[in-house]
Amino acid sequence: MQPQVTDASPLIDLGKRYWLPVYKPRDVVLDHGLGARVWDTQGRDYVDFGAGIAVNALGHQDPDLLAALHEQSRKLWHASNVFYTEPPLRLAEELVNASGFAERVFLCNSGAEANEAAIKLARKWAAAQGRPPERRTIITFKGSFHGRTLATVTATAQPKYQEGYEPLPGGFRYVDFNDIEALERAFDADDVAAVMLEPVQGEGGVLPAADGFIGKVRELCDAHDALLIFDEIQCGMGRTGKLFAHMHDNVQPDIVTLAKALGCGFPIGAMLAGSKVAEVMQYGAHGTTFGGNPMASAVARVALAKLSSPAVSINVERQAHELRAGLQRINDELNLFSEVRGRGLMIGAVLADAHKGKAGEVLDHAAANGLLVLQAGSDVLRFVPPLTITDEEMAEGLARLHTALSDYVAA
Ligand SMILES: Cc1ncc(COP(=O)(O)O)c(C=O)c1O
Repeated sequence: MQPQVTDASPLIDLGKRYWLPVYKPRDVVLDHGLGARVWDTQGRDYVDFGAGIAVNALGHQDPDLLAALHEQSRKLWHASNVFYTEPPLRLAEELVNASGFAERVFLCNSGAEANEAAIKLARKWAAAQGRPPERRTIITFKGSFHGRTLATVTATAQPKYQEGYEPLPGGFRYVDFNDIEALERAFDADDVAAVMLEPVQGEGGVLPAADGFIGKVRELCDAHDALLIFDEIQCGMGRTGKLFAHMHDNVQPDIVTLAKALGCGFPIGAMLAGSKVAEVMQYGAHGTTFGGNPMASAVARVALAKLSSPAVSINVERQAHELRAGLQRINDELNLFSEVRGRGLMIGAVLADAHKGKAGEVLDHAAANGLLVLQAGSDVLRFVPPLTITDEEMAEGLARLHTALSDYVAA
């Protein structure tokens, strides 16, 4: 595709004039993409190590996603849930079969909505057991990110996302991530309905659960008759090398939430419910107009099939190895990172003390050198490229990163 070479500033001015100023996009207008590359309206190309915040897991313009979308777009765009359509029915069955634990699925449109549904389901489950409201507490972890609705921002145990939105809904308790003793103490009041966690914290700095932590959380939930909810919105759908990140730990959850890569860029979210909770919400208990939209579901079916394939998990392992090796080489020369951590193609490079707070600056240099990377807070560079990234794209991205980081050091 020929990039349109146009001046981006009038478009950027529209955003500055008309958007609610809750975002601060880079002054670049992206135009189109292919694989792990995108082009802006000036015709400049970028290697995409961010994938739209871990969304475009099959890269840009995947032919099978395109075909599914085109086909469904010629049949039916929307019917709402007063009628059945085929794609969400098939998708629900396929998600249940892929999950190994779920019995039922609620389809929605975003991560926050999936988590909102999970929180409501946990409360409803506790209520159905006769527990009064004060015994329906949900434990979440410091550094977590679960969304921006009032309930999910309250679940998000980071004050910076909550400030000014008080009064927040009650019934949440925050515990240090990976601190099993603190978690044990958090059960002392005998009021816990559920524990909700990201197997790899994303926004909180690309921080994986410590070895054995998830298994221990499951044990505590079982001992206290509480539900275990995994928020796999960022770390799920193959990103860590298995379809779901919790599959590395061999632990059965009660609820899993998905979004982001489930639609590979087409908006869709899902809440998967296991046997304990699958029948708790009955007719009228929850719903959403666009949930299970046929176009989103048609795309998600293809995404699920492709992201479940061995070809993807093999590539995740191969490219994760390349990316880590490349980061190591860069660090041997420039000494910028104190740690490289994560799982599969969800990797965080933690800036060393001398560079703390400088992630934004590094990203400026990356973009100027044709590389899209993300930050997770101001101290961590976050690498979440498409899971189908090729050897050539990875090598080119690492070369650009090396130049960008050298420029940063020289500046
Ligand atoms: C782990 C996690 N949960 C929930 C969300 C919220 O998803 P959404 O932005 O689609 O509402 C995000 C988004 O970054 C996320 O990373």
